[in-house]
Amino acid sequence: MNKLKIGFIGAGNMARSLIGGLIASGLPAENVMASTPDADQLQALSDDFGIQTSPDNQDTVDQSEVVVLAVKPQVLKPVCQALTARHDSLYLSVAAGIPTSSLGRWLGQEADGAPLAIIRAMPNTPALLQTGATVLYANPQTSEGQRESAEAIMRAVGLALWVEKEAQMDAVTALSGSGPAYYFLFMEAMINAAQELGLSADSARLLTVQTAFGAAKMALEIDEEPATLRQNVTSPGGTTERAIQTFQQGGLEKLVASALTAARDRARELAEELGK
Ligand SMILES: NC(=O)c1ccc[n+]([C@@H]2O[C@H](COP(=O)([O-])OP(=O)(O)OC[C@H]3O[C@@H](n4cnc5c(N)ncnc54)[C@H](OP(=O)(O)O)[C@@H]3O)[C@@H](O)[C@H]2O)c1
Repeated sequence: MNKLKIGFIGAGNMARSLIGGLIASGLPAENVMASTPDADQLQALSDDFGIQTSPDNQDTVDQSEVVVLAVKPQVLKPVCQALTARHDSLYLSVAAGIPTSSLGRWLGQEADGAPLAIIRAMPNTPALLQTGATVLYANPQTSEGQRESAEAIMRAVGLALWVEKEAQMDAVTALSGSGPAYYFLFMEAMINAAQELGLSADSARLLTVQTAFGAAKMALEIDEEPATLRQNVTSPGGTTERAIQTFQQGGLEKLVASALTAARDRARELAEELGK
């Protein structure tokens, strides 16, 4: 991994998080490069991390064994079509929703017949604070070594998990991809409700967020199912039980299932639209 040349196309939030995480985990800066048309973004990357930069995406492709495609999904097609792909490289896309078959077509693998190793990753926004959850799918052309490299890159910004079927990426998008927003929505509702019960806005926010953090830490670090953790803090006849009953009578579980299904269906639609 430390000898691997990794290049980023796009120098926005996701590229910066990955580059920052990789350098912090010991990857030498001289092994990393990035390209984007914006000279200020390139200067900032070179000042902050000491990496090589270029305004020309082809330089990144020519000099990298792993090319991380970190532009917005809407511009990925023209960006890929403008490149002459190296066939010995791995292409790792973090663009939400774009299938590996579209990436291969745009990178020209059908024109010259040679298959390309492509991995598609679905990170989420906490990756910006190195606490992301990323799911990866590799096409059949990807070698074991390339899979390991991609996993190491995504681990620089949090947890990394594999799926073996590309169709599962739509479910993942609905769960971890969009998931942070679901928790923010729940936090908003708790903050508003707490204020209605008489707490100040500051206290309501702080207590809501710290409680969410503590619950997530318990669920991550204690070897029990969330249902058990919940039951452990739900005394018969107590306050928690009354609140949980209210959620369940209101159809919370069904609502969550409908929301995830709607997000999964939208992910399919977007993959269809963006992947053309
Ligand atoms: N942010 C997240 O938490 C998150 C989560 C999951 C997935 N993703 C995925 O990560 C990708 C990047 O997202 P982001 O949040 O990092 O977006 P972003 O901050 O807008 O970064 C995109 C970068 O691509 C650059 N760019 C635009 N056109 C380019 C071109 N022709 N050649 C090279 N670079 C070009 C942009 O430059 P300009 O600013 O000059 O346009 C910018 O540096 C997206 O595909 C998104 O789906 C992001």
